[in-house]
Amino acid sequence: MKNMTDFITQLPKAELHLHLEGSLEPELMLKLAQRNKLSLPYDDIAAIKAAYEFGNLQDFLDIYYQGANVLQTEQDFFDLTWGYLLRCKEQGVVHTEPCFDPQTHTDRGIPFQVVINGISSALKQAQTQLGISSYLILSFLRHLPEEAAFETLEMALPYRDQFIAVGLDSSEMGHPPEKFQRVFAKARAEGFKAVAHAGEEGPPEYVWSTLDLLNVDRIDHGVRAYEDAELMQRLIDEQVPLTVCPLSNTRLKVFTDMADHTILKMLEQGVMVTVNSDDPAYFGGYVAENYQALYESLEMTPAQLQQLAINSIKASFLPQDTKNSIILQIESV
Ligand code: ADE
Ligand code: ZN
Repeated sequence: MKNMTDFITQLPKAELHLHLEGSLEPELMLKLAQRNKLSLPYDDIAAIKAAYEFGNLQDFLDIYYQGANVLQTEQDFFDLTWGYLLRCKEQGVVHTEPCFDPQTHTDRGIPFQVVINGISSALKQAQTQLGISSYLILSFLRHLPEEAAFETLEMALPYRDQFIAVGLDSSEMGHPPEKFQRVFAKARAEGFKAVAHAGEEGPPEYVWSTLDLLNVDRIDHGVRAYEDAELMQRLIDEQVPLTVCPLSNTRLKVFTDMADHTILKMLEQGVMVTVNSDDPAYFGGYVAENYQALYESLEMTPAQLQQLAINSIKASFLPQDTKNSIILQIESV
């Protein structure tokens, strides 16, 4: 058996749950703060990393939104996205569907087009220079009112060819999916695909209502579905993809220990689970490190890791013929 790290790298993979703002490495955060003449509450990289001790999702979000303040110009958004894409290249990610939170930026006066143009030009360059394809996802912040999500969607419509889907993220508890039922219906009517975070910290009921009311193509996280046998059966019957993020789940205390993670049990029961990094700069690893953690802590076999890579392609928004050819490549690793 080859070295497992090499095996994981060599598997062609898609990443389907990645917040671009969550790929802001401490080094780039400091560089952008200097470039934009902003002061940070941290003196150096060690101080930034020391702040990354989270008790729950909200602890993390408070620091993550503060970090995003250094992103100001189109070049900043390009550099952020390009840095992430270089990691994709190193780790065998051949296709990515990253998301971004426009409201985090527009609410502090950064024009929407600055954000989306910086991101889009890096994604285009990755296709030509790195051979990595991508579709972008525009996420609404669920701690803000639905009206604000509608305004964001309106603002984004002139750029409709630059994103494929809408998403829903931020603080889950107390912000159930039904709060966004109308704006998701509008996005669907405009022809966008849809994904939403559900069942990360929130209960299985939020996964049910995300499926029933938001009409999503995938659930981001979804790990708490494991607590509800009837919901598990639905996920299996309908092959609803879950974009699971193992290192995120342990860092945000969704699971105490990686050995307790239920992704392997879900995979073995036939749920369409995939592996993703969520906010890699904050959680200690990009997608390959997430696969590696499952190998080390859950003793996943090469065949199971290969199945996870196949699932990532199946659950993507790629055309079927492209999916088929990448899956053949995965099977021959
Ligand atoms: N925004 C960035 N990462 C997130 C996560 N794991 N859950 C909800 N919102 C997020
Ligand atoms: Zn997420």
